[in-house]
Amino acid sequence: CSYLCEKDRKYVCETLCNGLARLEYRGYDSAGIGIDGDSPTDPVILFKEVGKVAALRKHIAEAIATPYPSEANGHANSNGHGKTVDMTKVYLSQTSMAHTRWATHGVPSPLNCHPHVSDSHTEFSLVHNGIITNYKELKLVLLKRGYAFRTDTDTEAVAVLCKYVWDTQPPLRSNFTELIKTVVKELEGSFAFVFKSTHFPDEIVAARRGSPLLIGVKTDRKLKVDFVDVELPNEERIEDVPANLLAVPNAQNGPTSAAPKIRRSQSRAFLSEDGMPQPIEYFVASDASAVIEHTKRVLYLEDDDIAHIAEGELHIHRLRRDDTVSSVRAIETLEIELAEIMKGQYDHFMQKEIYEQPESVVNTMRGRVNFDTREVFLGGLKAYLPTIRRGRRLIFVACGTSYHSCIAVRPVFEELTDNPVQVELASDFLDRRTPVFRDDVAIFVSQSGETADTILAMRYCLERGALCIGVVNAVGSTLSRETHSGVHINAGPEIGVASTKAYTSQYVALVMIAVQLSDDSILKTKRRQQIIDGLHDIPGQLRQVLGMDKALQAMAKDMLSGQKSLLIMGRGYQYATCLEGALKIKEVSYMHSEGILAGELKHGPLALVDEHLPVIFIMTRDSLYPKVQSALSQVTARKGKPIIICNDDDDSVPESAKVIRVPRTVDCLQGLINVLPLQLLSYHLAILNHVDVDFPRNLAKSVTTE
Ligand code: G6P
Repeated sequence: CSYLCEKDRKYVCETLCNGLARLEYRGYDSAGIGIDGDSPTDPVILFKEVGKVAALRKHIAEAIATPYPSEANGHANSNGHGKTVDMTKVYLSQTSMAHTRWATHGVPSPLNCHPHVSDSHTEFSLVHNGIITNYKELKLVLLKRGYAFRTDTDTEAVAVLCKYVWDTQPPLRSNFTELIKTVVKELEGSFAFVFKSTHFPDEIVAARRGSPLLIGVKTDRKLKVDFVDVELPNEERIEDVPANLLAVPNAQNGPTSAAPKIRRSQSRAFLSEDGMPQPIEYFVASDASAVIEHTKRVLYLEDDDIAHIAEGELHIHRLRRDDTVSSVRAIETLEIELAEIMKGQYDHFMQKEIYEQPESVVNTMRGRVNFDTREVFLGGLKAYLPTIRRGRRLIFVACGTSYHSCIAVRPVFEELTDNPVQVELASDFLDRRTPVFRDDVAIFVSQSGETADTILAMRYCLERGALCIGVVNAVGSTLSRETHSGVHINAGPEIGVASTKAYTSQYVALVMIAVQLSDDSILKTKRRQQIIDGLHDIPGQLRQVLGMDKALQAMAKDMLSGQKSLLIMGRGYQYATCLEGALKIKEVSYMHSEGILAGELKHGPLALVDEHLPVIFIMTRDSLYPKVQSALSQVTARKGKPIIICNDDDDSVPESAKVIRVPRTVDCLQGLINVLPLQLLSYHLAILNHVDVDFPRNLAKSVTTE
């Protein structure tokens, strides 16, 4: 957050906390903010608290009422001891930062919480998303050179490195951007950073590699330009700074020679149409939801961009030359509305998102499916259809729920494209260094478009020359920008950590891709038309299942609550539904649950069955129905007490069984309907178990670290 307009501390703290609350789904084990001291050259004032943003707000309220807490309890700030923080203090220009954490290194504690600082005078402070993989080496070198560390985090090494560079490289003391560039060049891993320094009051530097970062621009005046030119690096510029910074012997004394040759930035600054300076606020965030209530105008940074904000101007520099990256960053106008990221009449985002599915699947199909001519048209894929059809195989790569949507559509892709289909978990795909060829077609499915494993897998495939297609919800995300082409699923923002509406929209989008890919096959015309007719009826059928919510709530309470474990069985098209249902139960109710391929029952899971273990059977009508029936008999023969999800016209299920009756659709779409009762059951189990549904422990919505 950076301001060039008159605002007081209270406004800044509230703005930051509101932004954090919107980003909370990314991580919520602790939160912190750092604001300017009484003068921007004074140490930063830090507020940090374990838990969610609400706990941080409470801590701030207490801190401003009483003398500032001491270092002993971890809410460290050398400046504030014994003082109260005057929240009415007004600044003309200021820079502040905040962070909500999902711990990777070091337990959640106020000390390990961001912002991290270089020293007790907070000469450099920063917030970081990602992992610095060489932090141990950096820390060791810096410790040897006498620098102190106070936390267990990887991030602190970067803050201390900033101070080291300041201490040892006098030529860099006149330019914050160049100093940060020097620091960033030493780092390995993934990061999105915001840096602030008491040496550079009123300035902010942001940098990214591998983790998302965007800049929101807010001003009442019209901007003269809709883009920012990127300044390419001139390697010769800082002549006095050694290439391998940490290898310099006796670097504490550092070179002190003449001033560096720093070219003036060529990047274009923001001016109003009449060329007058203007009050302007900049918001640097890892997700648009944090800035949407202030501005819809955002600029997405690319990997190795270094953004510098000072005196109302934004300049973007590159860390290194790369001809494949554009030298212009457009300022885009976001289309999401604030209401879309608010809960409205619902108790939780997860509940809201489950209930949105009849509309969200329509949004996925809107303008793409013609129900009269029974055709599908996905503009994003048009140019690539011949290449995809010629491809040697289709490789789907994803994580979590997105992976399950790939499993769900594998049969229909195999059927309609007659091509081998491989479905891969991104991490395992990379671990195996899976062979990938130029004539492979890789499809990356991700709600956020920011999952680190999926992004790394995509880059792995890009390097090997495969055609890369993204199926993504978040517009402007890394995956949607770096793939050759793709399809946005248009489900709208999904906030609940447990993915629901993204699953059904991914499923629909993928089925549409399979249908479009086969539209050169006359033999498959009838099947395509059957699927398109099925898609037409899906929203109404989803609404019908939502009408069963009360009955499902009662079932969760009477039959499942308090149980230790739950098995979900099915086969064929429904295998994915079993996996996804079990994942939902685990994620939000903390009950152990396993999705089991019914064909595998006799090879192990049957040993678990007794009169106590609840088993849900997904037994809707398709060609595999008799086989699932026989699995059911094997369970009931062992006194198992199944709950059966079957079609509403099915009269052959055992009278004694508990049933959940759902509308019938085309076999390959039935999973869209069947997953809904499982989503609702998991939601109600979470409530019964007193789980914070939208923020289940230890999880994050978007896992931007490997
Ligand atoms: C995390 C989330 C899951 C999600 C998975 C993949 O684990 O908790 O809900 O399915 O990431 O996320 P993506 O954004 O790539 O679909």
